[in-house]
Amino acid sequence: MDRFIFAQSLAKEAGAIAHGFFKNYSSLSLQEKEHPQDLVSEADLAVEKFIIEKISALFPDDGFLGEETGLVEKNNNYWVIDPIDGTANFVRGFRYYCISIAFVSNGAVDFGVVFDPCADELFYARRGNGAFIQSGDTKKSIHVDDCHFNRAIIEIGRCREGDDRPNFELLKKVFEKGAGLRHFGAGALALAHIGAGRLSACYETFIKPWDAFAGSIICEEAGAVANDYMESLWKDGGEVFVCVPSIAEEFKSIIRETESNSTL
Ligand code: IPD
Repeated sequence: MDRFIFAQSLAKEAGAIAHGFFKNYSSLSLQEKEHPQDLVSEADLAVEKFIIEKISALFPDDGFLGEETGLVEKNNNYWVIDPIDGTANFVRGFRYYCISIAFVSNGAVDFGVVFDPCADELFYARRGNGAFIQSGDTKKSIHVDDCHFNRAIIEIGRCREGDDRPNFELLKKVFEKGAGLRHFGAGALALAHIGAGRLSACYETFIKPWDAFAGSIICEEAGAVANDYMESLWKDGGEVFVCVPSIAEEFKSIIRETESNSTL
């Protein structure tokens, strides 16, 4: 079976399981991981287990990099999985989370799928083949919305690993240039929304591969500019920059001025 086709239905099946848990979010059992904002629920564990079992049954020689499982190396293929991106939203009943699955083969991201169960939207892209959205029976190709800086809506995330504080200088400069600022709390979904023309850019100094790989290839295939995320993120995590072409250089130069550790 073709892995890309399989991944699309797998993300939707996993999304249905996640959404079952989401309907009873207040009774989920939770554990804190590295700090009070870094949570894992029984839903994250059950959905990742489901995804890995399904993949292993069909592709037993493929490896994994999963948010809850960590790295399992086998051959040169890896499935990079975030069973629930936006866990902090999920466990509070905030309808902004997604399932994110990317496939890395021979050192490059080959395809990515991101499923938003609340909106019933599947975003998907394979390198060189464009990016698409499916909702119900309707499928269409998606493209970024190139715009001026003062029309842009930019997501700047901040994970709590590494430097804990938001970069207020960066936020201030972006805001002064007239862009809208957002941080919805599910990086993979924010990236998919850039691909769909709903957001203009996303920047995070440190993000994990499972939060970024699927969304980033969807964005590239929809016409966005991205940093070399395979280089910066694989396998431990790092900087991610994805942006519509019209403001990419301007946004990068603001980041360079305000983030001393940026490699952009
Ligand atoms: C987090 C979200 C958030 C991003 C963080 C991630 P999680 O993932 O994607 O938007 O800013 O860097 O850790 O913990 O909800 O899977």
